[in-house]
Amino acid sequence: MEILTSKENGILTITFNRPDKKNAITAAMYQTIVNALKDAENDAEVRAILFSGKQETFTAGNDLDDFLRNPPQSTESPVYQFIQTLSHATKPVIAAVSGLAVGIGTTMLLHCDLVYAAENARFSMPFTKLGLCPEFASSLLLPQIAGYQRAAEKLMLGEAFSTQEACAMGFVNKVLPPAEVLAFAQAQAAKLVTLPTSSLRATKRLMKGKQMAAIEAKIKEESVLFSEMLVSKEAKEAFTAFFEKRKPDFTKFK
Ligand code: COA
Repeated sequence: MEILTSKENGILTITFNRPDKKNAITAAMYQTIVNALKDAENDAEVRAILFSGKQETFTAGNDLDDFLRNPPQSTESPVYQFIQTLSHATKPVIAAVSGLAVGIGTTMLLHCDLVYAAENARFSMPFTKLGLCPEFASSLLLPQIAGYQRAAEKLMLGEAFSTQEACAMGFVNKVLPPAEVLAFAQAQAAKLVTLPTSSLRATKRLMKGKQMAAIEAKIKEESVLFSEMLVSKEAKEAFTAFFEKRKPDFTKFK
């Protein structure tokens, strides 16, 4: 079970559980999450959704082996479906982040309503290091949330950064000790489930409403480019280098 789901006291918890591969997400794992999110949307018993991982890893992002062998090329692909479903979730979504949050492990947080992160969390969006481009509307949302230069630094250099920095950038609500982050996020979710779903839905819609069309358009624009770049020579070199445990050499490409 590489994705664990549990429903308790109105909270659907979705946990990344593939520790031997740093919780890297395969197409099958995305599909499980999509099914859980879609069920939650129609299940009146679910009043909040909570994402979590392991204390040392939230997720290392997309499974690069999966990407190399089976690059997602259509809107039917599980990763695209995940992006669509999470960005359209009408119920409150909370994330409890500990350890590494790479690629989509960071960009998915821009679509969560509340993000609690441990002092040991390390965020990164290493798309350029992989010969790729940003996804999940991060090229729209990150500059809006953090300001252009801070977003450009993270999206262009792709270097990892701390929870304190993520908090200062504006997409993490609170920094907590690693042993406390999940319990704190659960307590916040427990508060949300006592509130009227109709009010929470309306509040979320009012905050996001005007922005949704722009987010959808950006997701589409990024996805077309991302799919093209995924099968590029640069991406192949980056992915192969990762599995050969060496540095990629992009100097051979114009
Ligand atoms: N896809 C597939 N496998 C991955 C993976 C990913 N995204 N991230 C880690 N793994 C695998 C490694 O290949 C390794 O497998 P092995 O034990 O069979 O060799 C195992 O998980 C442990 O990873 P390792 O690199 O040894 O751990 P680390 O602690 O030294 O580094 C990371 C952790 C996350 C920093 C590093 O694994 C990494 O950079 N992963 C790629 C992240 C990435 O680029 N994601 C995609 C963004 S679009």
